[in-house]
Amino acid sequence: MKTIKYSKDSITIPSNKIDWNGKSRYRVKSSLLQPKNHRGIESQQNPNAYNVFTHFFQKESFDFVIEIGTSYGGLSLYLYEQSLQHNFDFITYDYLGFRNGIWSTRQNELKVAWNNKLLFDFRDKDVFSPTTITEISTILQNNKCLLLCDGGDKPKEIQIYSEYLQSGSYIMGHDYSPDNDYFNQHTKDKVWNWLELRDEDIIESMTQHNLSKCDKYYTDFRDTAWICLIKE
Ligand SMILES: C[S@@+](CC[C@H](N)C(=O)[O-])C[C@H]1O[C@@H](n2cnc3c(N)ncnc32)[C@H](O)[C@@H]1O
Repeated sequence: MKTIKYSKDSITIPSNKIDWNGKSRYRVKSSLLQPKNHRGIESQQNPNAYNVFTHFFQKESFDFVIEIGTSYGGLSLYLYEQSLQHNFDFITYDYLGFRNGIWSTRQNELKVAWNNKLLFDFRDKDVFSPTTITEISTILQNNKCLLLCDGGDKPKEIQIYSEYLQSGSYIMGHDYSPDNDYFNQHTKDKVWNWLELRDEDIIESMTQHNLSKCDKYYTDFRDTAWICLIKE
């Protein structure tokens, strides 16, 4: 197998808005995958999220981007490409023992495309264990970060980790709609069918840890089932 090299045109994201097909999986293609015609790696995202994130990374710079919840690795693959383009460090966490390991083989397709070794910094750790909280919070305290909460309990991830963010760092959570009515009217069957994070789930964290909905990006992220918060 040839060495996998990154170039600016490696990134393959849809440029126009895509009508959502109702599925929880969207394959992220990349010239970092081998063979060249690789069908892409599954991500659990609305496809339009990639455009929104790409615009965001063009405007904001980071020392670290940390993803909680790797799963198949499609979003991680995209974030890894972005890390090469914009020169930030990228780490993704998943706890392979989650639910007795039923999802522990999900990264196999990505490993096969990469000669059996993940190219990005993947850490098999429970984000609620004290040692992992110390590890992640140390990074958050010392760097400008974006923390993406897409693990097993988004409100808890935001509650625990937002305390440690530097002012000006961002924290985002997935499977978000502002409330149940909004979800039923605007999100369900149109954008995303999973609701695990609402304003009422994080209102206390926001007050306690000085988080605001980020004016510049809130609406675009909300329309792909993400909440974008900034630490004031
Ligand atoms: C919804 S999936 C992540 C989707 C992925 N970010 C994407 O866009 O394709 C949630 C993942 O969180 C992981 N997870 C659940 N609890 C966790 C924990 N305590 N620590 C780390 N990862 C956890 C699960 O194993 C699962 O793979």
